[in-house]
Amino acid sequence: MFEQVEVASPDPIIGLTEAFKNDSHPEKINLGVGVYKDQSGSTPILECVKEAERTLLSQETTKSYLAIDGSPDYGRYVRELFWGAGHPLAGDPRVSVVQTPGGTGALRVAGNFLHKIFPHKKIWISNPTWANHSNVFQAAGVDTENYPYFDPAKNILDFDATLRQLESIPPGDAVLLHACCHNPTGVDPDRDQWQRIGEVLVERELLPLVDFAYHGFGDGLEEDAAGLRILSDVVPEMLICSSFSKNFGLYRERVGALTIVATNAKGAASALSQVKATVRANYSNPPAHGAAIVNTVLSSKELRSQWEQELAGMRKRINEMRRQFVETMQAKGANRDFSFIQAQRGMFSFSGLTPAQVDQLREKYSIYIVRSGRINVAGITPQNLGRLCDAIVSVLT
Ligand code: LMR
Repeated sequence: MFEQVEVASPDPIIGLTEAFKNDSHPEKINLGVGVYKDQSGSTPILECVKEAERTLLSQETTKSYLAIDGSPDYGRYVRELFWGAGHPLAGDPRVSVVQTPGGTGALRVAGNFLHKIFPHKKIWISNPTWANHSNVFQAAGVDTENYPYFDPAKNILDFDATLRQLESIPPGDAVLLHACCHNPTGVDPDRDQWQRIGEVLVERELLPLVDFAYHGFGDGLEEDAAGLRILSDVVPEMLICSSFSKNFGLYRERVGALTIVATNAKGAASALSQVKATVRANYSNPPAHGAAIVNTVLSSKELRSQWEQELAGMRKRINEMRRQFVETMQAKGANRDFSFIQAQRGMFSFSGLTPAQVDQLREKYSIYIVRSGRINVAGITPQNLGRLCDAIVSVLT
């Protein structure tokens, strides 16, 4: 039977890593998948994580199952990171948190939940968005539609077009918004724009689903939560899908959360019960190790402060690479102004490279970039910067 199965196309992001691994070029460069690299090009385990793992190794007493919705302590830390420890929503029973296997797991559980309770509602995703968003929702049975987001001519948010589309979405549909560090463009709404988006969501009775995968990679933990907080001040209900893959460097541990904000405790409890039924039918209960690391770090004053410093270090290195990339492209005589890359935030930038140019970079120079032109800026290092810029200049001309 399996011989007759049609071969699926490789994943546009993770598939690149497989191709990169098989490339024998000694100076190959991978700017595909969104994984942080340090100055030397490796993806380190954070020191605070190593320390937490030492503690866990000596103190952990069981490997028995977690609850279907995961660890309650973890849920508390997730909420505190979103809103700050003193904020009403950090402790309000109208909020429920479900620990999930990564941010993708959170999105999938959210998709299953939406499909189960509102089988005919759609979810609206930005154009462009993370390549996996439509896969995840369609696999969960939720149809996707696009709203315009990015102006490629000016490399800015096309806010008027975004708003126009939001204003015409049928009531009851969901709208996916990136809390910060928009993937793939690196372009986010400002505070006033978040406010306006919130007002339109309320007027149109739309359900926001906020994807929060890069908390701390933009301007800081507080700054990056601003959009989410503005929304939660005005909308009655929302879903938040978050991840510790990037800001704790816990990619392979699969540690994320689906947070439900309801109008009241009854709504939160009902929604939670349905989400739990979905989880049980899907993967039963979440893996424990990643969340135990997060709990251990965030419950210790020292480790938390070390984490914040390490996170700031990653953020600063990416921003420094943005600056050096722009400078080097200019110095090498690029026929295009790349200064917009410096204004963008998070791991990614939308370079404006065409699929043909991306293919050329891979075939001629063994440089791997997502075909949409998305560059993982966190993969640029002082060692590969010169070669990267030379190659881009050559494919541009
Ligand atoms: C990315 O966008 O590269 C990351 O979110 C990793 C992934 O799973 O695609």
